[in-house]
Amino acid sequence: MIDTLINVAFCVSSLVTVLMLLLPSQYDPRHSTKSTRPKTSVQILVLGDIGRSPRMQYHALSIARNGGQVVIIGYTESDPHPDLISHPNVTIVPIRPHPAILQTSNKLLFTLYGPLKVLFQVVCLWRCLAYTTPPSRWLLVQNPPSIPTLAVASLSCFLRQTRLVIDWHNFGYSILALKLGPNHPLVKVSLWYEKIFCKSAFAHFCVTDAMRSVLKQDFQLQAPILPLHDRPASHFSPIQDADERIKFLASLPETKEICSKPIRLRVLVSSTSWTPDEDFSVLIEALLQYSKLATSNTDLPEILAIITGKGPQKEMYMQKIATLEAAGKLKKVTIRTAWLSVADYAKLLASASLGVSLHTSSSGVDLPMKVVDMFGAGLPVVGWNRFEAWPELVTEGVNGMGFGSADELAEQLAKLFGDDKKLEALRVGAQKESTRRWDDEWNPIAGKLLGLN
Ligand SMILES: *[C@@H]1O[C@H](CO)[C@@H](O)[C@H](O)[C@H]1NC(C)=O
Repeated sequence: MIDTLINVAFCVSSLVTVLMLLLPSQYDPRHSTKSTRPKTSVQILVLGDIGRSPRMQYHALSIARNGGQVVIIGYTESDPHPDLISHPNVTIVPIRPHPAILQTSNKLLFTLYGPLKVLFQVVCLWRCLAYTTPPSRWLLVQNPPSIPTLAVASLSCFLRQTRLVIDWHNFGYSILALKLGPNHPLVKVSLWYEKIFCKSAFAHFCVTDAMRSVLKQDFQLQAPILPLHDRPASHFSPIQDADERIKFLASLPETKEICSKPIRLRVLVSSTSWTPDEDFSVLIEALLQYSKLATSNTDLPEILAIITGKGPQKEMYMQKIATLEAAGKLKKVTIRTAWLSVADYAKLLASASLGVSLHTSSSGVDLPMKVVDMFGAGLPVVGWNRFEAWPELVTEGVNGMGFGSADELAEQLAKLFGDDKKLEALRVGAQKESTRRWDDEWNPIAGKLLGLN
C-alpha cells in the first residue's frame, strides 16, 4: 500500500518536474543590459496571411520605426510589405499552414473538419508563441479569427508574463454567423469563448467608436479600450497631375489595351476578398444596368472596372461575367481582374475615377480598410452603407456616397460619371481626407500605450 503511494508520488513529482522544465521562458525586463537595448519588444500575431493583413503590418512598421523590436507571426502566402522584409528589427515567423484537405466551404464538413483544423492550429501556435520566439513585453493579437488564437495567446501571455493587447477588427462570432447562421450552437459557443478570453487582455484597440461601445457594454471589458481608426499608410497618396494618371493606366498590362482606344472612359476600382460578406453580384447587377443605360444615353462614358483581390468565390463570378459578356449584356462595361504589387495598387487607386466598396459588415461596427486606402489615394468612394459604423468613415456627398442596393449603385454611377463636376467635387473631398494619416492616429494612442514615445 505504502509502496504504491510512494510510486504514485514519485510519478506525480516527475511529471511536475518535466512540465516545469517544458514551460516557456518568461519575459524579464532586466534581461538585456546592452546599450543597444530596444525600447520595447512586441510579438504580433495574425492567424491569417501577413501580406493581406495591412493593419497588422502597419502596426509592425510603426513599432519598429519607433525603436521597438518586432516579431510578426502569421501565414506567409503572399509577400509581406517590402519595408517589413527589409527592416532590421522586424522578424517574420511563419506559421505552418494547416493541410489543404481541412479547408472546406461545405457546412457539414466544416463542423466535422473544424475541430481537427483548430487542433492543428493550437499546436502550431503554441510552438510559435511559447518556444520558437523569445519572450517579449507585449503580444498584439488580431481578432478575429479568435479560435484558437485568443485562448492560446492568453495562456502563453500568462506563462511568459507578456502583456496581451487585442486588436479588434471585428468579432469572431459574427463572422462565423455569416457561414453558419446566427442561431447555430457553434456561433453561441464562439461568442461565449470570445467574451471569456478577451478579459485576460491588458488593453484593447478597436477600429471604430461604435465597436468600442459594443466591447464596453456587451463584452463588459474593464481594461482600456482605445479606438484606433484605420488610416492609409504613406504609400497611398494622390496623383495631382491628370496626365500622369492616364499615363499610369496606359502602362498597366491589365488596362493598356482598352485605355489606348479612342473612347470616353471612366475607371472604377473595387477590391474584394471574394468572400460571402461581400456580395459581388451587387456590382455586377449595377454594371449591367449601367451598360443598358449607357447604350441608349450616349452622354455616359464607358466603364472599365478593375477588380483586385484573391478569394474563394472569384472563379464563380468570373464565369458569370464571361457568360454575360458573351450574351452582349456588358457592351459599355469592361471588367478586368488584377493582382497588383503594393506600389501599383496604390497608383491604380490614385489614377482611377471612383472606388467601390461592397463590404457589408457582419457586426455593423467594423469598417472596410480598402475605403481608407482609397481616401489615402484621393479617390472618392461609393459603398454599401447599411451598417452602423459607415458614417464614421464616409461623409455623404462630401467624399463619397452610400448605397443599399444594385439599383441605387447603378443610379450613382450614372449620376457621377454623367456629370464631371459632381465627381470632381467628391475627389476634392477625398483628397482632403487623404491628409489624415496612420502615424497621426497611431503615435499618440498605440505608441503611448506601448511606451514608445
Ligand atoms: C534596431 O534596434 C536597435 C536596438 O535594439 C536600435 O539601436 C537600432 O537603431 C534599430 N534599427 C532601426 C533601423 O531602427
